[in-house]
Amino acid sequence: MKDTLSLTWENRFASRADHMKSSAIRELLKLAELPDFISFAGGFPAPEFFPAKEIAATIDGICDSQSLQYGPTEGYRPLRELWAQRLGRKVEEVLITTGSQQALDLLGKVLVEPGSTVLVENPTYLAALQAWRVYGAKFHGTELDQDGLQVDKLPDQGQFLYTIPTFQNPSGATLSLERRHALIEWSERNQMPIIEDDPYGALRFDGEALPRLVDLDPHVVHLSTYSKTLAPSLRVGVLVGPAQLICKLVQAKQATDLHTSTLNQRIAFELDSNGYIEKHVQDLRRVYKERRDAMVAAVRKHFPPHTKMIVPQGGMFLWVTMDPDFNSVACLERCVAHKVAYVPGNNFHPYGVDLHTMRLNFSNTQPEMIEEGIRRIAEEL
Ligand SMILES: Cc1ncc(COP(=O)(O)O)c(C=O)c1O
Repeated sequence: MKDTLSLTWENRFASRADHMKSSAIRELLKLAELPDFISFAGGFPAPEFFPAKEIAATIDGICDSQSLQYGPTEGYRPLRELWAQRLGRKVEEVLITTGSQQALDLLGKVLVEPGSTVLVENPTYLAALQAWRVYGAKFHGTELDQDGLQVDKLPDQGQFLYTIPTFQNPSGATLSLERRHALIEWSERNQMPIIEDDPYGALRFDGEALPRLVDLDPHVVHLSTYSKTLAPSLRVGVLVGPAQLICKLVQAKQATDLHTSTLNQRIAFELDSNGYIEKHVQDLRRVYKERRDAMVAAVRKHFPPHTKMIVPQGGMFLWVTMDPDFNSVACLERCVAHKVAYVPGNNFHPYGVDLHTMRLNFSNTQPEMIEEGIRRIAEEL
């Protein structure tokens, strides 16, 4: 075909597109497909444990006209009812989203005014920062430690607080019970909304379960997902929050994707309501604990003796802190040449400082390969 039009797109992008950058992790994941590459970079579940047969059998039973037709923006009602019952709420307070990532984006669309400050943990989930930057958010990061967010260091102003209190991504830290109560008090004192993102809560393999923030205070906006307990490709997430907020989010979601795939919502509903997920998660907990143990042991064996780590009681990530003069970005380049990858800690900080930490994912690699991967990194340290 004759090329008569020479269009350049760059000068047509809206100014908000300036805030869109591809994530360092996604670029790295491309390399992880090379043979013999050991990637601790992505936040991937163990692929050997995807319940492919159960999902296929479920589809067989539900692939009817209801599953294939357009559905309500709020989500598949039985799935909303299941979550309403689970959290002791009304069905109007439950919205099904296309993964939790969509919930983060919709919250940004509805709540973030350009220039407003979102309070986050430092470090925090990279793709939440990415989602809200597009809407012009500024960030205030508050440090966390082994017991999660340092609540006493939180400021008293901001648009809302975003927290991942249980097996945090990236640090693996879990907010202690005492700090959970203190956080709710802080929120009441400052009239500050809390968004609790909880993709990993079901994946506890050590210690006692703690109440979710939403269990302590119904004003908390709670996000959950089937990505880590069933399969991320289904893209089914759940947002529980005040009906007034849900109404606005539904309007935002209508313009985004009309609704989340009904077929996928029904798969999640069937396998959740019949108790399958509860059993399946027990297998995941056992396997992830083995992998966590293998990684912690390998780091102790191969990394320098003063290396610090937060040993997570669940979830998928190990957060490692090296000497202050260590440069995890430069080290990653050497590691990639030796077919191993992690994510340098600076990616999880709103303003990119902190070069001496790294996030290592353990759920996606078998224990023998975990030891080998950690050994390869140690050689490059
Ligand atoms: C903290 C956190 N929030 C949200 C998500 C997105 O999950 P989903 O697959 O449900 O979009 C992830 C995925 O890794 C995550 O770690």
